[in-house]
Order: sequence, then structure tokens, then C-alpha cells
Amino acid sequence: SIFEKLGRYGKEPTLANMEKYIMDIAGVRVICSYIHDVYNLLELLRKQDDLTIVTVKDYIADPKPNGYRSLHVIVRIPVYFLDNKEFIPVEVQLRTIAMDFWASLEHDLKYKTVSEVPGIDSNDELKDCSRIIEDVEARMQILARALEPEGEK
Ligand code: GTP
Ligand code: MG
Repeated sequence: SIFEKLGRYGKEPTLANMEKYIMDIAGVRVICSYIHDVYNLLELLRKQDDLTIVTVKDYIADPKPNGYRSLHVIVRIPVYFLDNKEFIPVEVQLRTIAMDFWASLEHDLKYKTVSEVPGIDSNDELKDCSRIIEDVEARMQILARALEPEGEK
């Protein structure tokens, strides 16, 4: 899939190009309860002086056309070898439980789909589900805020 991606980027499938252009060979996914936790974590990443942030893609503020929501951050972290240190890119995906629920099932459905089913527009349906999940998430977030002890608001 790395070579396929290099092809899409119009690059030759070489090790050098992989190191240069592929930013998500290594990745971590962090699942949070609420959206503000996601942005709090981003701020903490920004404050960390042992890593550098390369890009931030905010698919929460601006979801992908299919309804996908998450915050994607590419960071470079130092990796120590015997005689040198290299800054290796890592993709950190930050999302809420609600976003992960949608993304996990959507991912699963993408590979399960055998063929088109008459009467079902699965793209439309998934997009609509994303919107409904977003509403429920916002509602539970309001509830959580309201139930927080006074001093912590
Ligand atoms: P590019 O600039 O296009 O590379 O954007 P990106 O790196 O922000 O997203 P990319 O499409 O490369 O996807 C990176 C990873 O995000 C994927 O491997 C998935 O884990 C996740 N992801 C992105 N889009 C979707 C989506 O539509 N559905 C699901 N389930 N996961 C997605
Ligand atoms: Mg990518």
C-alpha cells in the first residue's frame, strides 16, 4: 500500500522516496471522550519540545466529504540509532469515541460491500449517520458540561 500511495503521488517506488514522501508509515490513534480533549491534547503536543509538528489536518472543523471526522497530526520524533539520530514522521490520529464509532464501522463496511444494493445510497446513508452522531456527541457534551462540578467548569 506504500508503493501504491507513492504511485498516486507520482513518485517512483523506492526506499528513498518512501522516507521522503510517506508520512504515515508509523501511526498512533488516540480516542478521547470529548472534542475539547482532542484539542487539549493538540496543545500538549505543541508544547512538547522533543517533537516537531509537521502538519495538522482538522477534519473535525472540516469533515471529509464522506463524513469522516478526526484530527490528523503529523509529528517528527527523534529515533536513536547506534551512531545517529533521525527524526521520523508519525501520524497521530486524535478522535472522540463518537468519531471512532463511525470511522470503524465505515472502514468495516467499505471492505464488506459486495455490490450496490438497489434502493440504498450507502454514501448518503453514511454521511447522514455521521451528522446524526455529531449531533448526539454535541448533546452529550452539553450534558457533561452541565454535570461538571462547579470548580471544574
Ligand atoms: P491526505 O493528504 O490525503 O494524505 O490526507 P490524510 O493523511 O489526512 O488522510 P488519508 O486519506 O491519508 O488517511 C489517513 C488515515 O486516516 C487512514 O489510514 C485512515 O486511518 C484514516 N482515514 C482517512 N479518511 C478516512 C475515511 O474516510 N474513513 C475512515 N474510516 N478512515 C479514514
Ligand atoms: Mg495521508
